[in-house]
Amino acid sequence: MSDPTTSSTYATAHRRSITDPDAFWLEVAGGIDWTTPPTTAVDGSRPPFYRWFPDGELNTSYNCIDRHVEAGRGDQAAYIYDSAVTGAKETITYSQLLQQVAVFAGALAAEGVGRGDRVVIYMPMVPRAAVAMLACARLGAVHSVVFGGFAAPELAIRIDDARPKVIVTSHGGIEPTRKVPYFPMVAKALALAEHTPTAVIVAARPDQFPDETFPETPGTTWTDWDEAVSAAEPAAPVPVKATDPLYILYTSGTTGLPKGVVRDNGGHAVALAWSMWNIYGVRPGDVWWTASDVGWVVGHSYIVYAPLLVGATSIIYEGKPVGTPDAGAFWRVASEHRATGLFTAPTAVRAIRKEDPEGVELARYDLSSLRTLFCAGERLDPDTYHWATEKLGKPVVDNWWQTETGWPIASNLRGLEPMPIKAGSPTVPVPGYDLHVLDAQGNPLPAGEEGNLAIKLPMAPGTLAGLWDDDERFISSYMSVFDGYYSTGDGGYIDSDGYVYVMGRTDDVINVAGHRLSTGSMEAVIAKHPAVAEAAVIGVKDEIKGQRPVGYVVLKSGQIRDPEELRAELVAMVREEIGAVATFRDCTVVQGLPKTRSGKILRKTMRQIADGQENVVVPSTIEDPQVLEDLTPFLRG
Ligand code: COA
Ligand code: AMP
Repeated sequence: MSDPTTSSTYATAHRRSITDPDAFWLEVAGGIDWTTPPTTAVDGSRPPFYRWFPDGELNTSYNCIDRHVEAGRGDQAAYIYDSAVTGAKETITYSQLLQQVAVFAGALAAEGVGRGDRVVIYMPMVPRAAVAMLACARLGAVHSVVFGGFAAPELAIRIDDARPKVIVTSHGGIEPTRKVPYFPMVAKALALAEHTPTAVIVAARPDQFPDETFPETPGTTWTDWDEAVSAAEPAAPVPVKATDPLYILYTSGTTGLPKGVVRDNGGHAVALAWSMWNIYGVRPGDVWWTASDVGWVVGHSYIVYAPLLVGATSIIYEGKPVGTPDAGAFWRVASEHRATGLFTAPTAVRAIRKEDPEGVELARYDLSSLRTLFCAGERLDPDTYHWATEKLGKPVVDNWWQTETGWPIASNLRGLEPMPIKAGSPTVPVPGYDLHVLDAQGNPLPAGEEGNLAIKLPMAPGTLAGLWDDDERFISSYMSVFDGYYSTGDGGYIDSDGYVYVMGRTDDVINVAGHRLSTGSMEAVIAKHPAVAEAAVIGVKDEIKGQRPVGYVVLKSGQIRDPEELRAELVAMVREEIGAVATFRDCTVVQGLPKTRSGKILRKTMRQIADGQENVVVPSTIEDPQVLEDLTPFLRG
């Protein structure tokens, strides 16, 4: 195979993006409508804080909607909503979306929301979630979407950190086997939080939740969405600085407190439009489907914003890959709406495969419009890759990125120059990302050797501008690990063809069913139990979900508890404090936890033993090797 990383359209683009980022990205920025076009791409005067298009001004909502209507695409579908849990289907054209977004922005403005103010959005997968996000963008306000699977205390933490003027919510979400009412969750979060927003606006679902009434929450009024918009004037797009924040999205770090990743307006619009075109190969008018949730970064970038930035149609799907009603759900939706691209997490493919290993459901649908299946959120394991490729007969493309970057760090660039796919690799570093493999001291490692994946600064536009109100944590989490680099927290290697392999997190963040979770936050919850002296939660391999959290607890001296009862109590606590999405179900009482002499629990060693790895190297700093020996039978299950 000729080396695509040195002699190709891709190689030229990548090289130019690194050696002359100003010229490269200013040219790309020409695809966005600016109220004040930028003259500089990157301002690196205050490293490690890089600012993109510092003298440019634009409005993201205008770029997603108005300009397409002005260009005559008003009758084209912007969003197609398909709910497998209610049976509802709805097409929203660009003109209709413009009207809905403008008037909801007016309703937010009437509540005092303006440029720079925050709005928390806690919504299920309904079109109004996207409308609310775009309405914030229209005003220059900053949204912070909280995934519906998080419980009240997690919502409260985000409310206190973002300090929103308004919360936008709904009656609730619908899971395959139960309804999840949101009002009690929002009311409890407001009671827990110190900050008091002035209003909660409710996108009602009375058909699904006929008995819910607005709760009483001191200092905050609850209003129905329809009522709020009936009195509102449509709002015009407000030009903002390219460097102004568009949104805050909280993501799990190693400690209990989530990190508020800040995304800017200009870099985001430029990078996402470029990625849609060059990575995903999407053109205006194409129907595109990201089967994720607006609560995750994949949903922000590739359900709500990027498809609209390029004038495509984006499917908003409310349902699961299996059980709503069967393992043919994805193929039904892709076929019915003639999707040209489908983007999901490998865990969803594994769930489908488990129920339909022979692809009987898949064969029932006409997937002739589908060009590519994209996967991200966790490593696309070779087994799942081969199964999907064989059953679909189409390219299956892995792409690696994170909440922090907002768009792929490594991918096969289907729109720019498709490359041969190697199972287990998301292919090559995307233009804008100068990716390196470093050892623990920050020295570069040769091809094929595994180490820390780090990106030389500046990173591409659209990547995190910082952490909300926490410059110190931004620097300590990402920028001070390796001087002059952003540390991804992922380990892996680059082979001699320049292909990237991402092998997993090097920290205590775990990835469960494509959901990023912090073991530290689960440990913090468990530690609150009166019988528990200390706890460790590790992510162990799971056939469908990739990883699942498993807890090991040491009881306080004198405590004697029925293990099953204790397990049930701890599971309930994690569900109550973090949410069902934590998927915390296994917990074992043990005599001790292995630690280093400085008191750090050896979670990595525990994980390696639990995963059945051979020749596990136990750190020489271990305090008492006997503790680990005693624990090993429990870890091996
Ligand atoms: N609101 C409320 N609860 C939610 C929720 C939401 N939005 N999303 C998940 N949950 C609940 C589930 O109902 C489940 O509850 P339970 O313990 O009572 O059964 C729990 O959280 C765990 O959910 P999940 O891990 O998603 O497991 P699942 O068995 O319901 O579904 C998959 C498994 C693989 C089908 C599903 O995880 C999936 O589709 N994953 C893809 C993830 C994804 O898109 N990630 C984004 C990156 S691309
Ligand atoms: P999130 O911030 O929720 O998108 O999770 C980001 C993390 O998920 C990354 O740091 C990786 O550990 C993992 N991840 C996402 N996509 C991939 C991929 N394609 N291959 C390997 N790991 C991935």
